[in-house]
Amino acid sequence: MASLTGKVAWVTGAGSGIGQAAAIALAKEGAAVVLTGRRKEPLDATAATIKQAGGKAVVKPGDLMKASAVTRIAADIDKRFARCDILVNNAGLNILERSWKQLTPAGAEQVIDGNLSSAFYCSTAVLPMMRRKKGGVLIHTSSMAGRNPSLLSGAAYSAAKHGVVAMSHTINMEECVNGIRSTVVCPGEVATPILDKRPIPVTKEERARMAQSEDVGDLIRYIACLPAHIVINEVMINPTWNRGYVANLARTTKS
Ligand SMILES: NC(=O)c1ccc[n+]([C@@H]2O[C@H](COP(=O)([O-])OP(=O)(O)OC[C@H]3O[C@@H](n4cnc5c(N)ncnc54)[C@H](OP(=O)(O)O)[C@@H]3O)[C@@H](O)[C@H]2O)c1
Repeated sequence: MASLTGKVAWVTGAGSGIGQAAAIALAKEGAAVVLTGRRKEPLDATAATIKQAGGKAVVKPGDLMKASAVTRIAADIDKRFARCDILVNNAGLNILERSWKQLTPAGAEQVIDGNLSSAFYCSTAVLPMMRRKKGGVLIHTSSMAGRNPSLLSGAAYSAAKHGVVAMSHTINMEECVNGIRSTVVCPGEVATPILDKRPIPVTKEERARMAQSEDVGDLIRYIACLPAHIVINEVMINPTWNRGYVANLARTTKS
């Protein structure tokens, strides 16, 4: 029997990139997966891939920046499954105009709501279901920019992702007595559609050297399958060819 048989996983941002890869990996492991994102079509495509492989998937579209949408989807999950064992709190976004010269209040609000408020809404929505079962795993996709502020990612994104790291640690501090575990995943560059919003375009060759969605999806699957008595509090995952390191080497060494 696969190790997540009988478990329910809610994956946000499941129509593309890391979320899609995580949903497919969790479904292969036997979990019934609930797929959320704003656009229905990519979620349907993820669900079709999972079902073709014999897995279980339910599509629940919604804008996670709206607390009411999050409450509605969580209530649907509770009604249908009466449990939520795994939350992959992964949806996130960035904007093109991210430098301080260009940043507007509306842009900052979008990035903070889309990466941090939404993550809080989803966490608060699943915790009651997890407390009831005396167990559960929350896996949040932060970023290396959530550890080291980065101009490449921008001020608002760096600040929001630092918030996600803090949020995850506080869940462990309070909910460990309820058997609930929280892991924050901090990826470096992953070749996903979010890179299309970079002010400096990323080439095909550069994307090929980056971590791939499946690498992070498999890490998320691994975390979800850990035994209930341990938690990986935080994990960083980066491409071996780390463009930040390579640029630094070029500045500090003579050829
Ligand atoms: N790729 C990287 O280099 C990298 C590095 C570090 C961290 N991350 C983080 O990894 C996570 C996944 O991103 P990705 O790289 O896989 O990029 P992606 O393919 O753009 O995935 C982001 C997903 O989030 C969904 N989403 C965005 N805003 C949403 C909202 N308000 N409500 C519901 N769904 C929303 C998007 O779908 P809709 O547009 O249909 O809503 C999309 O499927 C993000 O949190 C991102 O910040 C990425």
